[in-house]
This record gives sequence, structure tokens and C-alpha cells, in this order.
Amino acid sequence: MHLYGQTADMDPILELADEYDLIVIEDACQAHGAEYLSRKDGRWRKAGSMGHAAVFSFYPGKNLGACGEAGAITTHDEGLAEHCRKLRDHGQAKKYFHAVEGYNGRLDAVQAGILRSKLRYLAKWNEQRRECARVYDELLADGAAAVTVPHVPAWSKPVYHLYVVRTGSRDDLQRHLADAGIGTGIHYPVPLHLQLAYARSGWNRGDFPVSEEAAAEILSLPMFPGLCPGSQRRVVDAISAFASLRSATR
Ligand SMILES: Cc1ncc(COP(=O)(O)O)c(C=O)c1O
Repeated sequence: MHLYGQTADMDPILELADEYDLIVIEDACQAHGAEYLSRKDGRWRKAGSMGHAAVFSFYPGKNLGACGEAGAITTHDEGLAEHCRKLRDHGQAKKYFHAVEGYNGRLDAVQAGILRSKLRYLAKWNEQRRECARVYDELLADGAAAVTVPHVPAWSKPVYHLYVVRTGSRDDLQRHLADAGIGTGIHYPVPLHLQLAYARSGWNRGDFPVSEEAAAEILSLPMFPGLCPGSQRRVVDAISAFASLRSATR
């Protein structure tokens, strides 16, 4: 999964998959246009082009968003592509001849038209997100805000679907920002192993301490193309005010 618009480190994943004859499905739902420097291939590669297949979401809030539900699958495997085309169309190999059991996952024409128009702007919007991230990095660098900014490895060119900071006093900070009229998000509050849906797996709190700590500390700051530096300054000033208030009351 290319979380928040930053690619996973794919070389070791693909190497492991090769060794054990596994398939790799990239979750590129948050990473339209993100790039990864494959040291193995000696070139930059786009999210969604490296595994056996990849999935993209065009949910309205994504870097490339439709006006409703939409998504896409990419793959180099012609057989797999054919199978996916059947599955999304009630399993039909041709009209009224059902080769497999499928469902209705067709992309409707209105969404396709909207996405096609918006696709032209994706690179520009991603650049704007990168610029917003640069401004946050710069404003948060002096440490007054007392939050940890996203780490970007040298092999990664993220597209900042989200700009997620970490802090030990996340919930209080979120409340403070909300009081100042600044909306934030938590992506995501409950790690997979603690989701009710996976209770049958038998995992307990404490089994994945890194995920649990991250879930308690992460906060997504406002991030969208067109977010202006003045607004970002207001967000960072509010975070810094919270930090100095806290250190004064300790
Ligand atoms: C990382 C990731 N994977 C999968 C999905 C699911 O996408 P959709 O809701 O379009 O099916 C999302 C959407 O929120 C996502 O962010």
C-alpha cells in the first residue's frame, strides 16, 4: 500500500515475492502519480506500474477524484485484465454469455468523462500538493510546533494525498485546532488488527505496537491543491500556540 501518496519500498517487496512465487497487488488508491526510484531497475517508476496488478480509487477526495464512486485496475497481464473486465460486468465474456460469476463494477460514462477531463490537471495538482508539503516542512522546521513531519526517503517522490504529522498530544491538538476553525483528520484511528471486522483473527492490543502508537499520534493537516501559504501559516501558528500553551502549563 502506497500510504498517504508515498510509495512503499517496492524493490524488497518484489524480490521477496519473486523468491516465494507470490503475486504483488499495489494499493495505489492514494498515490496517483507518485514515483519510486527502483535501485534494481535504475529508474523512477510510477505507483501502479510495478506489481502484477494495482488498484486506484477515484473516490471524490482522492488526488484524481470522480463525482461519485469510481476506480481502476492496472496490470501488464493480459489474461488478468480480461478476467477483471469479465468480473466487473457480471462475469460476461460477451453480452449474455457468463463465463464466471461476477458483479456490477462498471465505471459509468459520466464519471469516466469527468475523470478524463480532470486527468489533464493531475500533474499540476500533484505539484501544488508538493509545494504545500514543502511550505509545511519549512514552517514546521524550527520545532516551535513540536510535531514530527513526514519522512521522505531519497527513493520517493510522494504526491501528498495527505500530509500527516505525529504528536504525543494528538487529541488535545486536534481539539485546539477545531476550536480555531481548522479541520484535521485521523487516517486512521483504528489499526487493522483491532478492527471489529477482524476480531476473528484473534489479535489483541499490544500485538502490533508500532501501528498502535502511530494510530494514537497521527494527525492529517489540511492539504489540497490551491491551499495557500497564508492558510498554512495560520495552521502552523495555531499548532505552535498549542505547543507553547502546553509547555507553559507543565
Ligand atoms: C489506500 C486505500 N485503499 C483502498 C481504498 C478504497 O477505495 P474505494 O473506496 O474507491 O473502493 C481507499 C479509499 O479510501 C484507500 O484510501
